[in-house]
Amino acid sequence: MAAKTIDTGVRTGNPTPETACNFQARTLNFRPSMSDKQKPLILTGAKPSGELTLGNYLGAIKNWAVMLDQYECFFPIVDLHAITVRYVPAELRRRTYQCLAQYIACGLDPEKSHIFLQSHVTGHTELSWILSCLTPVGDLHRMTQFKEKAAKPGASVNAGLLFYPVLMAADILLYNADRVPVGEDQKQHLELARNIAQRFNQTYSETFNIPEPFISKAGARVMSLQDPEKKMSKSDENPGEAILLLDSPKEIRKKILSAVTDSGREVRMAEDKPGIGNLLNIFSAVTDRSIEELEKEFAESGYGEFKNALADALIAKLEPFQERYRRLIEDKTYMHRVLKEGTEVAQARACKTLSKVYRKAGFIERLR
Ligand code: TYM
Repeated sequence: MAAKTIDTGVRTGNPTPETACNFQARTLNFRPSMSDKQKPLILTGAKPSGELTLGNYLGAIKNWAVMLDQYECFFPIVDLHAITVRYVPAELRRRTYQCLAQYIACGLDPEKSHIFLQSHVTGHTELSWILSCLTPVGDLHRMTQFKEKAAKPGASVNAGLLFYPVLMAADILLYNADRVPVGEDQKQHLELARNIAQRFNQTYSETFNIPEPFISKAGARVMSLQDPEKKMSKSDENPGEAILLLDSPKEIRKKILSAVTDSGREVRMAEDKPGIGNLLNIFSAVTDRSIEELEKEFAESGYGEFKNALADALIAKLEPFQERYRRLIEDKTYMHRVLKEGTEVAQARACKTLSKVYRKAGFIERLR
């Protein structure tokens, strides 16, 4: 990696109020260029609460990977978000490494972006506390994802589950992100983050950018293979519902061939064909071909032929990714270096914002 120098936000002779982060200027291996500083900033992440799915890839990570040159990119792995539901600590650790290796294998180049763990940067939780004091509880109760998760049989409805969107707002606002590329399921959380930012600005004076959602059309909502009314999710209980990025070719073909389809045999988009519509959307997002083109190509084919062609396309797409992943997951030294460098830049930026926020919110400057 190339040399990287960071602005820690610490100014001699003009001390800024310090927060939990009392750190020295450091030299890293990676230097953000001047043009990097002028680029708009994006921040987005995934939580390591399960194995990444094709939905995560097509709705999110695939789009992030093409933004590296145009934006300054912060890609946390939002591990603190993974503990709002029951989990096994050793699994969380394993999945966090897996998620990191998958980010990189999907094309998130650590030399062109800042990749780090949310739990390594102090500031996410601190800011979320301040923001939570500006967030009506009623707004949180209205969040669709909260309602869905809380309604699951045996769910433990802890305060973290309810406050999840405030932590997400803190993730975004801590870096003053301009844009937040996500899948459609995160739209409501993002709207809340925008409201929280506006409320802070109105209460304490202009501080935060109002972040813009960025939702790509293709792949924005990949649905379950067994229930096309429901989004494909890491937490799906039936393994046939979701394609995992690490599924073997055999598993991929089996899942696609047993995906639910609709009555009839024509391969086309239609309101009464949500199953085929979902597979067409996946096919289109995986191959970057239009739905119309695919409908034409498979006009004379039955579902079986269409599904086999989709399985071939998916296997071909995931094969090079899986090969890169297998090499990366063995290289802990490299992964630690990526995290260390990403964290240092993120921490510096986080401290700067937090100092400003604390000052505006009326806290007395921490004495050194
Ligand atoms: P998570 O981990 O559930 O998902 C990561 C990204 O994948 C997208 N996604 C999908 N897109 C299309 N179809 C699907 N079936 C599908 N499933 C998931 C999500 O929209 C997301 O972009 N709350 C967030 C994580 C988060 C975050 C943030 C995101 C925490 N803080 C700050 C952006 C900015 C979540 O649960 O993502």
